[in-house]
Amino acid sequence: MDKLIIYGGQKLKGTIKASRAKNATLPIMAATLLTSKPVRIRNVPQVQDVKTMAELLKSLGAEVNFDGDDVIIESQNDLLLEAPFDIVRKMRASYYVLGPLLARYRKAKVYLPGGCAIGPRPIDLHIKGMEALGARIEIRHGYIEAEAKVLKGQEILLEGKAGPSVGATANVMMAATLAKGTTKIIGAALEPEIVDLANFLNSLGAKISGQGTSTITIEGVKELNGGEWTPIPDRIEVGTYLCAAIATYGEISIEQCEPKHLDAVLFIFNQLGCEVSVDQKVIRLKAPYRPKAISIVTAPYPGFPTDLQAQIMAVLATASGVSYVTENIFKARFLHALELNRMGADIKIEDNVAIINGVKRLSGAKVMASDLRASAALVIAGLGAEGVTEISRIYHLDRGYEALEKKLTALGAKLERIKT
Ligand code: UD1
Repeated sequence: MDKLIIYGGQKLKGTIKASRAKNATLPIMAATLLTSKPVRIRNVPQVQDVKTMAELLKSLGAEVNFDGDDVIIESQNDLLLEAPFDIVRKMRASYYVLGPLLARYRKAKVYLPGGCAIGPRPIDLHIKGMEALGARIEIRHGYIEAEAKVLKGQEILLEGKAGPSVGATANVMMAATLAKGTTKIIGAALEPEIVDLANFLNSLGAKISGQGTSTITIEGVKELNGGEWTPIPDRIEVGTYLCAAIATYGEISIEQCEPKHLDAVLFIFNQLGCEVSVDQKVIRLKAPYRPKAISIVTAPYPGFPTDLQAQIMAVLATASGVSYVTENIFKARFLHALELNRMGADIKIEDNVAIINGVKRLSGAKVMASDLRASAALVIAGLGAEGVTEISRIYHLDRGYEALEKKLTALGAKLERIKT
């Protein structure tokens, strides 16, 4: 397993380009199963999760070919309808094939994704939505088995106790594109990745409206065409590099991003004392010497994303004063706090709140990555720390950050990957 060695203390300076969003690309790749025609997805991020989704689609019988940074997917008529344990266990987003397979073949079997390092991850809302469309769902031998004679459009309240679900909104929206009649998803997720998926489906001939609001309407169509699409920029990747700049008191620009997707995040960076400016597709950030302490609450979009909670905690670890981070989406998503404490941070967890007593400087240590965003937090902490940080289990990082070492090196960071 590879390790990342970070020699801390270099101020990040310079300009990089954002990659396209993994969290938009994965459901879009799954959605190509809705059509038998070829679809080209442009500029997909070269990360492990995209490769895993390609592997899953191939295992179902789709033709998947990479052409430079593009991927071309063609799903002819006779697909296998089972997403096996071996692949689903590597990536929860595998469950995105459930909606498309059910819509096109009226049958699908997907290994049930379990919880993960960020805590329990229920799928009751996915099931509720598919059942409302007329599917019979059974959980057998670890698989969700879904079957329907016909899928019929319905009004579905999809919001759970923790608010809207990104995954369930995507799955039900995909299933409803080929259903008979009109489906209304009430309590839909507003995330830009959902809007991108809806726009992509419309480009193939689907009839979806209301994406980006809490009610999405899907008029079922008989079939979809092929086409091509470029997914939106990765707002979480952009937020991660900006956090790295703050942790090193640096000054960076990120090009080819979508600043309006980061409104809540840039607002927080301003509160930390950063100078932030936005010019169309570019964000520039100049960090202060030690950020101010603040309170942050994670929330569904347009709130502060749970996927940047770990990274901002790495920043707040050296803020001047006491910060509070409340995690409202995945209430136990705090494994990174323990690793940050190993680097000299002073973080206490009380239920779903992290109380961060800012220290002057972190110190390099041997730490372990536990999930994708927690790993990013350790990289940020290591970049700002004094001395050398050694992060093991970095396969988590490879799942979701394209060319991480290259981009950080371009910004002046000193780091190396050790193959073990
Ligand atoms: C979540 C994030 C998404 C992020 C992704 C990967 C939110 C709202 N979603 O999406 O931005 O990219 O993780 O880290 O921030 N829930 C249920 N029943 C369900 C499904 C979800 O109760 O069937 C709950 C979850 O436990 C959670 C909340 O709803 O508390 C939101 O979950 P959901 O958006 O579905 O999670 P992901 O799709 O994984």
